[in-house]
Amino acid sequence: MAYALEDEFGDIIGKARRGQNLPPSEIATAAGITEAELARMEQYTLKPTETQVHRLAEILNLDGTKLLDIATEQWEPEPPQQISDSDLEVITISAPVGGWPVNAYILICQATNDAAIVDTAAHPDLILEQVDAHNVNPTAILLTHAHSDHTDGLPKIQTATGCETYIHTNEPKPQSETRLREVAHGDTLTVGQLTVTVVNTPGHTPGGCSFIAQNVVFVGDAIFAGSVGGPNISLQDEIDSVRDNLLSLPDAVRLFPGHGPSTTVGEEKAQNPFF
Ligand SMILES: [Fe+2]
Repeated sequence: MAYALEDEFGDIIGKARRGQNLPPSEIATAAGITEAELARMEQYTLKPTETQVHRLAEILNLDGTKLLDIATEQWEPEPPQQISDSDLEVITISAPVGGWPVNAYILICQATNDAAIVDTAAHPDLILEQVDAHNVNPTAILLTHAHSDHTDGLPKIQTATGCETYIHTNEPKPQSETRLREVAHGDTLTVGQLTVTVVNTPGHTPGGCSFIAQNVVFVGDAIFAGSVGGPNISLQDEIDSVRDNLLSLPDAVRLFPGHGPSTTVGEEKAQNPFF
């Protein structure tokens, strides 16, 4: 697939299994496969049959039809259309960390050229290069969560831009040059003439949050196209908060995740096997 998803079938069933604390032996028996076959499916070295996908989906509380579309590589999100009359622009910076691409973003208010830097992707120089290349004025740094692949290099960006940094009050705090500004669900901040609203999306981390600006949302590792972030804290919290605070938005709203391609609320409701 030219526009590859962050998670494959094996990642999805692994996250669903671990998030629900289901023993591999129990899942394998219920699905009519061996534990070794389950492990190989999670490691992408064994392709499941259609029947096995549906059985595993049922055991893991996933949507079988949506899971099959991903297992057979029948779906990927539509690439974003250029919106010429939009009040905002989003620049994506995708950079490898430990061999895997991580996304950071620059949200630009078209009316004022003020901008917010969303996460660091552990590549502060790349972000600062893009700030210069687009000739924007950064006024805030927004952190979706504190994992190092999303926050390393923060002090360098803080020093270069002089911006305040916003992070959820329940989130562990990364290394910072300045006192972090703590935010909570429902708080708003401004970037030029844009209003950015904070919503809770915990589960991957304790204080994971998303930032909504008009028709775009920066979701960190709460949801990926066709999957969710690793449920380190609680899969149920992750599913509940994404459903209530993100998938309740209009279908056309575009979600920008910490890994993998952007997607929309409508596409995730139609294709994400966790929902
Ligand atoms: Fe993360």
